Amino acid sequence: MFEIIGVRNVRPENPADLFQQGWDNYRLILGHDYLWHSLAGQKLRKVVVSQFRPSDTIRFLDLACGSCKSTSLLVSDLGGVRVMMGQPPIEFVGVDNSPEALRFAKCMNFGTSVRVTFVESDFVEYLRGVDSLFEVIYIGMSAHHLGLERLPDFFAQVKKSLAPGGIFVAYEPFCLPGETRNVYIERLHRTIREKWTKLKPEGIANVIAHTGECDFAVTLADWNAAAEKAGMKPGEMVFESPDQLFAIVVHEA
Ligand SMILES: C[S@@+](CC[C@H](N)C(=O)[O-])C[C@H]1O[C@@H](n2cnc3c(N)ncnc32)[C@H](O)[C@@H]1O
Repeated sequence: MFEIIGVRNVRPENPADLFQQGWDNYRLILGHDYLWHSLAGQKLRKVVVSQFRPSDTIRFLDLACGSCKSTSLLVSDLGGVRVMMGQPPIEFVGVDNSPEALRFAKCMNFGTSVRVTFVESDFVEYLRGVDSLFEVIYIGMSAHHLGLERLPDFFAQVKKSLAPGGIFVAYEPFCLPGETRNVYIERLHRTIREKWTKLKPEGIANVIAHTGECDFAVTLADWNAAAEKAGMKPGEMVFESPDQLFAIVVHEA
């Protein structure tokens, strides 16, 4: 059921990159649910279920999919229900530029009712090159690396690849209204030091270095201005994590 295709674009060297230092720390973060993936996953499921009828085609693109911990669960459940009702399986494409992440993703249980493909690629370049359309384009915890300057190009590629009636869903760090990126980072680092107590000291130091260097959360207003610049409809915030650090934003095609 699995296929790994095409290696596009070499992963850039970045000493602060959380994922070059192995997946163990990130898997601990996921395991302790410090990024609220459980709650966010429940909301994502509601969003997808309310958007599509069981008879609708669903091609689900997971950008920067990582280990697909939440999305494999979602599509395996949705796929199972659809096939029981005689509907075609879900097509799932996971894109990530880390071979290690894709090795973990390949071990996830997608069920037998989902056709799964993985692509090792930069996610923006994947979108730029792909001809297919997707009913759901999802990105989790990765678009914030682009910064405000690169967001309009990203949105333009998403718009090009979104099927009519489809949705773009982002689960990302967001600044509070009027909050600057630096104040957001201080708030994030305070939370990590105070609440992420199950990580080892070197794990905490690694996340703080990575986020301080690579994370560029924006406000929803700035995010939507970038989306509209690319011709996308503005997104609606449908979920905010209890610590107000992360949010799900949904854009209709
Ligand atoms: C914080 S993890 C998020 C994984 C998953 N989406 C989640 O929510 O748990 C970030 C993922 O993005 C991948 N990544 C980072 N930059 C990328 C890029 N430019 N293109 C493709 N994948 C990228 C990393 O390899 C990693 O798997």
